[in-house]
Order: sequence, then structure tokens, then C-alpha cells
Amino acid sequence: MNVFATEAGTDLYEHATVMGKAHIASLFQQNAERFEDFSFSVPGLMLDLSKQRISSETLNLLCELAREKHLKQWIEDLYNGEKINTSEDRPALHTALRAPADQRLNVDGEDVIAPIHENLSRMETLVNCIHAGQWLGCTGHPIDTIVNIGVGGSDLGPFMACKALSEFTTDSSRKVDIHFVSSMDGSHISSLLDRLNPTRTLFVISSKSFTTIDTLANAETAKEWLKRADQHDQMNEALILKRHFIGVSATPKRMVDWGIPESNHLYFWEWTGGRYSMWSTIGLPIALRIGMQGFRDMLAGAHAMDTHFRNTEFESNLPVLLALTGIWNINFLGITAHAILPYDGRLSHLPSYLEQLEMESNGKNTTRTNEMVGYNTCPVLWGEIGTNAQHAFYQLLHQGTIPVMCDFITCSTRYEGPNNTELKHQHQLNLSNCLAQSQILALGDTVIEGAENSPPHKRYRGNQPCSTLLLDKLTPETFGMLIAMYEHKVFVQSVIWNINPFDQWGVELGKTIATGLLPALNGSSDGVSLDSSTRGLINHINTKR
Ligand code: F6P
Repeated sequence: MNVFATEAGTDLYEHATVMGKAHIASLFQQNAERFEDFSFSVPGLMLDLSKQRISSETLNLLCELAREKHLKQWIEDLYNGEKINTSEDRPALHTALRAPADQRLNVDGEDVIAPIHENLSRMETLVNCIHAGQWLGCTGHPIDTIVNIGVGGSDLGPFMACKALSEFTTDSSRKVDIHFVSSMDGSHISSLLDRLNPTRTLFVISSKSFTTIDTLANAETAKEWLKRADQHDQMNEALILKRHFIGVSATPKRMVDWGIPESNHLYFWEWTGGRYSMWSTIGLPIALRIGMQGFRDMLAGAHAMDTHFRNTEFESNLPVLLALTGIWNINFLGITAHAILPYDGRLSHLPSYLEQLEMESNGKNTTRTNEMVGYNTCPVLWGEIGTNAQHAFYQLLHQGTIPVMCDFITCSTRYEGPNNTELKHQHQLNLSNCLAQSQILALGDTVIEGAENSPPHKRYRGNQPCSTLLLDKLTPETFGMLIAMYEHKVFVQSVIWNINPFDQWGVELGKTIATGLLPALNGSSDGVSLDSSTRGLINHINTKR
């Protein structure tokens, strides 16, 4: 199965035989207006693709390919709630989560927008209650510490956003500490609990399915910790659950079964993919961090990107162009590694967020019609704060042997106000490094005179395609736009590859096998048939304890 066996696909293969030999430096030499030709903007955000190995013809052919794949219709199906997540027979409606309250969208005969806003109002009441110091723990002390327990999509988005937007706290939200616990092995929670006051701590158990063992194990540890702490106060478990736990899930019954009373439930819907859920009540920690208005501003930014994506022609559509240049790199230039390089410490968790968004969505080897794909799909993604990565893996980007495409993400303005001279200088340093690195990675050492006389170990071959994403400022709105843009990029690539980006069957077998191994780890190997490596490792572990 080759989705590129079309007219535009064939032309792109042909075109790649020429462009594959081109150097980005020579493309700049040939066209002094390259930046003007290949940079694209929406208010607040600019995407510069001029350091990609593309020409106008490349983009024209890629847009033609998107038309051949009926991308416009797919976008409409996404927004209209068609069941495009076919293997799970449901729509993917993250765009509805950030639609304004006056919109209506009927799915299966029922409007989904009004219930979304009802849930947001419910969340607002809860957030305001905590911020006002009115949510009291078992002993009557106000809650001032929140611990979000979740994993994957029920952790990464809120974790990233709370870090990115921590400058946007309000007077009341600043009084609340927020922590994140995700690791199954207990290392996050065990080191955290020692530092917390149980009488003032509220746990948010975030899990779409409410069956994820990682989350339930941490939640159980939290509950037992509270019960132990409360022994002398004779508080009963029901009161602990009522005063110290909130559940956020798409499966209310399981929250009840676990013990969280209905009054402490926040809901979202099956049609919200886990990795697309930070816009739903899963975003509770974000609202607790920056206040409900800040959360709504983030939704508004994402909605602005949704509107741009839905209504803009492909030739100037940011998510479409970002996606199509990725397709060009992956499927026509053979590049299968992608570095995410935020030049902004506030975006330190963006790489791990995008690892899940991109690799869990598009790390697929079968098409929507269950044939094996005959082409590469999602590349390996990884990343780090750019300036730190310069002292770690940039050596490989500059002088290693594999081609890597790179996203540079930064903002023009930071540290406003008269008293920030030193920090403003640090921002200038940061920007100069961001620009220097993308310049060298794309253009190589042609950027300095006489480099051709240097010995090979001092040469920089360049020709690593780079995109630069420039926010005017990092605000809840522009942050929302940035993340929504990546979501849509992932969707566009899935359409071209003819894969379903909204399921994740590849994570299931590991859960089943791990459950099956527990008896052997507990010393009983009856009925467990094991390969010699797994058996040997279990025996070794068991002899050590
Ligand atoms: O196992 C993968 C996964 O299902 C992710 O897709 C999801 O974001 C994560 O686990 C957490 O799932 P839940 O929110 O149901 O606990």
C-alpha cells in the first residue's frame, strides 16, 4: 500500500530526485526573498519554513497531494463530529472543547457544546472555591496543595501548561501549590508525600478510563497515606474521600466504585482522546494554576488556531504547511528523526508532550483499511530546552551521520518592565543562540568565510531542515494556539498516511503481559509460560529480595 502512488505523489518523487541533492545554503543563494516566500503568520505566531529544503514547487506539489487526499473533507469531518476514529467507532472532538458557548454542534442528534460549557462552569465553581480557601480538608483546614495523579494524556498536557504559564498566576491562585504524580513505581509520590501536610492536601485523580493501573496505584497510596495521617482524628474513609479527592474521568461509575462521591466528579467524554484532553476538565490543574479566566484564554487561543486551520487555504495554513513539510522530509527526503527545541525554559515539557501527541497518534504501521503501510509514518521525536541541548546532543545534529529535522520554538518578547535589564539581556542571548543554531544547522559552515579550509573534524555540513516557530509573547492564548497547531499538524499527516491518529492499540499488549507476570514476581510461576530471558530476570530479581 503506497499512498504516494498518485499524480502529485509521483511528481513529488521526481521532484525529490533534484531537491534531494540540493543544499539549503544554495537555495538561499538562489533566492534573496526566501524568508518572505516561506514564512507564514497568524496574529501572535509566525512559522518560518525558509530553512526547510523546499522550493515553491515543493509546497505546490505537497498542497496538491493534500487535495488528492481530500484533506478539506477530512477537516470538515473532524470538526463536524463524524466518527473518524473508526477502530473505536467514535468522533474526535477536541475542537468542540474550545468552541465558544454560542456555537452548536449536533452529534448523534445531541448538542455537545452546551454540556461542555456546563462542565466548564462546574469546574469554575470548584476552582474558585479552592482559590477562596473555602474547600476544607477533614480537619477543617483550607486546602492549599493540589496533587494531580494521572499519566499520559491525563498528566502531560496539564503538567506542561502549568510550567509554561506559571507567570500567569492570579493573587488567589498563587496561594495554591500544584504537584504532578505519574510514575507507576511510586518514586514521584513517595518523595512528595514526605513534604506535604495531609490536612491541607487535595488529590485530583485524572483518568479518562479510570482503569489505568499506574494512576490507581498512586491514588491508593495517597488514600492510605491520608488514612494513616488521620488515625488519631478518628476520621472515616468516606470523609477523607469527600474532602481530599476529586475525580476527573469519562467513566463516572468507576469513580464511584473507587469511592469518590459524585459531588467531587468532573466529567469529560469518550470522544476526547487522552492526548487531546487538556482542553477538557483534565485541564483542572491548569485552571487552578492560572485561574479560570486564564484557562478560558488558552481555549480561545486554541479556537483561533482551529478557525485558521478550518478556513485557510492550504498554501498559507500553518498546521497544514508544518505537516506537509514533515511529510516531505520523512517520505521524500528520508528523514526519520525530529528534534523539538524550545528556546524558552517555560516550554521545557513541550518535547515530552509532543512525544505522546505525535508518536502515540501516528506511530502506526497499518492503514485505516488495515493494510500494512509501505512508507514511513511518524518519526522518532525527542527534545530538550534548546540552549541546554546545545551542551548535550547538538554535536550529533551538527556532525553526526543521521539527518534530523528540527523545530525551533521561541518568543520575541520576554521580561517586560524597567527592572529586568539582566534578564532581558539573557533573553537576547537566548535568541541569538536560537537563530545561530538554526542558521548553522540549515546552512552549514557556509555562514563563515574560509570554512572550506578547515579540517573535516571542524566542518559543519548543515542541510538539516529547520522550522522556526516564533510567538510574539508566551501567553495563555499563544500557548493554546501553539498546541492546537501541533494537534492539527498530526491530523494532517495522518490523513496523508491514511492512518487513524486517534487510537493507540500498540499500548495494550504490554498492560496484559505485565499483569500476567505479577504472579511470577510474587514467587508463583504456576501456569506462567516464559521465555528464558524473562524467566532468568525474574529468578534473578527474586533471589535478591
Ligand atoms: O496507555 C496509553 C493511554 O491510554 C494514553 O492514551 C492515555 O493518555 C493514558 O494511557 C492514560 O489513560 P487514562 O486517562 O485512561 O488513565
